[in-house]
Amino acid sequence: MKKLEGKIALVTGAGRGIGRAIAQKLASEGAAVFINDLDQEAVDETLSTIRAAGGKAAGFAGNITKPGIPDAFVKAALDNFGEIDIIVNNAGYAWDTVIQKLTDEQFQAMLDIHVTAPVRILRAAGTHIIPKAKQEKADGKVVARKVINISSISGLYGNAGQIGYSAGKAAILGVTKTMAKEWGRYNVNVNCVAFGLIQTRMTAPIGTPESVAQIEGNTIKMGVPPDFVAENVKLIPLGRAGTPEDAAGAVYLFCLPESGFITGQVLLVSGGQVI
Ligand SMILES: NC(=O)c1ccc[n+]([C@@H]2O[C@H](COP(=O)([O-])OP(=O)(O)OC[C@H]3O[C@@H](n4cnc5c(N)ncnc54)[C@H](O)[C@@H]3O)[C@@H](O)[C@H]2O)c1
Repeated sequence: MKKLEGKIALVTGAGRGIGRAIAQKLASEGAAVFINDLDQEAVDETLSTIRAAGGKAAGFAGNITKPGIPDAFVKAALDNFGEIDIIVNNAGYAWDTVIQKLTDEQFQAMLDIHVTAPVRILRAAGTHIIPKAKQEKADGKVVARKVINISSISGLYGNAGQIGYSAGKAAILGVTKTMAKEWGRYNVNVNCVAFGLIQTRMTAPIGTPESVAQIEGNTIKMGVPPDFVAENVKLIPLGRAGTPEDAAGAVYLFCLPESGFITGQVLLVSGGQVI
């Protein structure tokens, strides 16, 4: 039997990159996955790869920073699969600048996507999880549930030029630790995976079409200077950048039944890079 057979997993930002790899990994281990991304096209692409591999998946397109969308996402997951066992708060992007050029809109956008949206999703999911867990306890059943929030090496150590991004990614650490304390009684493990350099659109060379995103009407230029990856790899003991599959593997560890006594923790997944 596969390790996640019968589990229902929600993954945000799963239309590409790390989120897609997480959804594919969880589905390949037997979970039914309910995914989200901004555009239907991105959602559909991920769904078709999972279904082609024999996995079970459904999806929901919507901007999770809009009030009401996190609740609608959770409701749609329950309508489709009837349960929530795993939540991966993965959706994110970097709208970078130094503090003297930072606009209020830019800073707020980084808090909205990296901390407000995950909190709204957890709050919405709680309306199902809390009464369900109370009933399970009363019935003497042990059901393990998992929340994995996604942070960054930038949230742990800071990064020049990423004032908003690092603030949002640091805030989600506080959310993780508090939710671990609030939801321990409901047998929910709440942990955080903080990535170092993972090769996706976010770390594609600046100026290439794949490094540009349209989010909430703003053109967000992500990506890194052409020599950044080669230079940064020198700081990585494993000597290479991570792949989306490396990233997904770390999230999967926190979904396993064997991680049942680990909660409120932050796992840095950076190939050993610590600054
Ligand atoms: N790639 C890295 O090196 C790296 C390092 C540290 C942390 N991270 C984090 O990992 C996560 C995944 O990033 P990635 O590298 O796969 O980037 P990516 O750009 O490839 O994928 C992120 C996905 O999130 C989606 N998304 C963004 N805003 C959204 C919104 N408002 N509503 C719904 N979906 C939204 C995007 O459309 C995109 O498909 C992010 O939280 C990111 O901050 C990435």
